[in-house]
Amino acid sequence: MKLAKCAMLLALALALALPQLAMAHEAGDFFMRAGSATVRPTEGSDNVLGMGEFSATNDTQLGLTFTYMATDNIGVELLAATPFRHKVGLGPTGTLATVRQLPPTLMAQYYFFDSKSKARPYVGVGINYTTFYDADFNQTGRDAGLTDLSVKDSWGVAGQVGLDYQINRDWMLNASVWYMDIDTEVKFKAAGEQQNINMRIDPWVFFFGAGYRF
Ligand code: NI
Repeated sequence: MKLAKCAMLLALALALALPQLAMAHEAGDFFMRAGSATVRPTEGSDNVLGMGEFSATNDTQLGLTFTYMATDNIGVELLAATPFRHKVGLGPTGTLATVRQLPPTLMAQYYFFDSKSKARPYVGVGINYTTFYDADFNQTGRDAGLTDLSVKDSWGVAGQVGLDYQINRDWMLNASVWYMDIDTEVKFKAAGEQQNINMRIDPWVFFFGAGYRF
């Protein structure tokens, strides 16, 4: 009797002390990740007024992903974020304008290993829609006679690789990298003359965060 009680207490202590068997990503799971998302454009453009290509700066925002597991290995994921803000400029002039963008992206994903694995590396492919807004020339741009700036929305393919590491039943850590094909047309007037510049943003997006399974 005493021994049984002792064994029970020991089992209970072990159950509390040992990490629970992490069941990661089963069919029917829904999970959300939140973290830092950094957009690094690999940009380039048509020649702008004989002064070279447009450049665009990096930006980091809050990124959110929402994932549904259709099977233990196949997931569907939506990427959302707070708006990214980029400075756009030319080598000789520096920054001429700022623009904000939101790049919602829908991915089909394959998660390697099985639902008992704590680490779930994955790859994904999908579609990105990027909407640009609040495009404005700064004082330097306005002083150079630049007006009427607009940046066209973009549809393109996206790819990703990532890793989820399950901490316990509910929480995970995540690191992932995305590549998005984002091409746009920048329209503006220079001294009243219409300019249409094809520009590629084609960013790498680096995500680090934590995830919670519902
Ligand atoms: Ni492209």
